[in-house]
Amino acid sequence: MSLYDRLNARRTGASPAPTVQAPEIVEPPAPTEAETTVLDSVDEPAFVPPEGGSVPAQEPDRSSVPEAVVDPLAGVKEKAAQELFGRIGVRLNDSTLTEQQLHDLARKELAEIVAGEQLALTITERNRLIDDISADVLGYGPLEPLLDDDNITEIMVNRYDRIYVEVRGRIMPVAARFTGEPQLRRVIERIVARVGRRIDESSPMVDARLEDGSRVNAVVPPLAVDGSSLTIRKFAATPYTVQDLIGFGSVTPQVAAVLDAAVKAKLNIIVSGGTGTGKTTLLNVLSSFIPGDERIVTIEDAVELQLQQEHVVRLESRPANIEGRGEVTIRDLVRNSLRMRPDRIVVGEVRGAESLDMLQAMNTGHEGSISTIHANSPRDAVSRLETLVLMAGMELPLRAIREQVAAAIDIIVQIQRHRDGGRRIVSVTEVHGMEGEVVTLQDAFSFDHSAGFDAEGRLLGRIRPTGVRPRFAERIADAGIALPMSLFQDDALDAPHLGGMR
Ligand SMILES: Nc1ncnc2c1ncn2[C@@H]1O[C@H](COP(=O)(O)OP(=O)(O)OP(=O)(O)O)[C@@H](O)[C@H]1O
Ligand SMILES: [Mg+2]
Repeated sequence: MSLYDRLNARRTGASPAPTVQAPEIVEPPAPTEAETTVLDSVDEPAFVPPEGGSVPAQEPDRSSVPEAVVDPLAGVKEKAAQELFGRIGVRLNDSTLTEQQLHDLARKELAEIVAGEQLALTITERNRLIDDISADVLGYGPLEPLLDDDNITEIMVNRYDRIYVEVRGRIMPVAARFTGEPQLRRVIERIVARVGRRIDESSPMVDARLEDGSRVNAVVPPLAVDGSSLTIRKFAATPYTVQDLIGFGSVTPQVAAVLDAAVKAKLNIIVSGGTGTGKTTLLNVLSSFIPGDERIVTIEDAVELQLQQEHVVRLESRPANIEGRGEVTIRDLVRNSLRMRPDRIVVGEVRGAESLDMLQAMNTGHEGSISTIHANSPRDAVSRLETLVLMAGMELPLRAIREQVAAAIDIIVQIQRHRDGGRRIVSVTEVHGMEGEVVTLQDAFSFDHSAGFDAEGRLLGRIRPTGVRPRFAERIADAGIALPMSLFQDDALDAPHLGGMR
């Protein structure tokens, strides 16, 4: 196996060689700072799989990172990449160039740069070196194999040499690294330039998206104290369906049947959960229950929902441009959507003043709206809504706000990501009304933890009916939807309703 084959084992997924031999470089370039400190993952798989497929409940442990080995050509690559950047840097973000033209231009320049390095390489090796450098400068560098790996759902770069991924709900470190902060920074700049944004000291935080729709957040110094940080939520080409969620154990068929009926009966539903718990995924599943003949307007910060219905208008908010102008907020879009004759308004997440408009819409004839909120319990979700409405600056008395919340929201579905990596619905809670100053909540289903964990740390419990028949059951019946009331009493029942569900 040649040096190059070994170097590229990680890209092609070829079986890794156990050790890296001395580099076949005749005149090694003077060690750069990057080279002496840089570790690369040349001989490591894209990610470290959980041992034997089991999922122990524990925090990520960096001691499990495979020993990284030094890429003998890291210094050359970094130097050539820097030089390429110096030569064509401004054109990298030139929107008049197609990707192909940009690649051709980069290859031409790189051929000259590499020739100037006087390395003893065969033509094939030289071409691969050029491929590698152009992937680093024009592509996503060491992130490419992680992006290509469908098992990885999230990539978290804490700094150039600390990368974590999420695989099947578990977060684990990987051996892949950038050659240094400059390479990481180039990748970030390229990602944000593609969406017409800029990242630098004066605007050090940016949300962007990859071409495939994956959601990206980047923070650079001085805000990111240890070096640039990048988080990528990979876009699922085929979104999870309700059957997938049932298969994962995230929801039982009974609860799915109740939620399906609640959506069809036009109840207002809020999905509540912490960060990354699966709120958007569940919102997408709930939206899939909306009948095809209803006009749906979706409103998001970055389009993530993938509705299968045809009668859908998708709206996306817009941040201010470099001069600070042109911002269109979620609130603007919610207000505008009311003039679009929607049967349903689906808001990706309420996190600001739009919550007031959303509550008002729900209270004034736009039933059947669905949204998500960042909160750790249904009670938290109610207080967070109150806080968000206060942020709208209308100076409403708290009691009036609570009345709005109590009247608008019918159901809060709480989800959690458990330590075994599973994401599960842990309660389906009805918003009853007001008792004195307090919004009253009543669980119709709640998670029963009594079964504990299995030997591999997996949670054994499941969500069960509390036995309290919710008032919304009546609204479901009034809407002409046949839902066996025993679903709310006995969890051993089959869910006949699910037959036609996708
Ligand atoms: N029930 C589930 N089982 C397994 N994986 C899931 C489940 N729901 C979501 N995921 C995965 O978890 C990740 C986060 O999901 P999602 O984007 O829906 O979360 P979120 O709560 O909306 O996150 P954020 O707070 O960042 O908006 C995605 O990679 C998604 O594919
Ligand atoms: Mg989300």
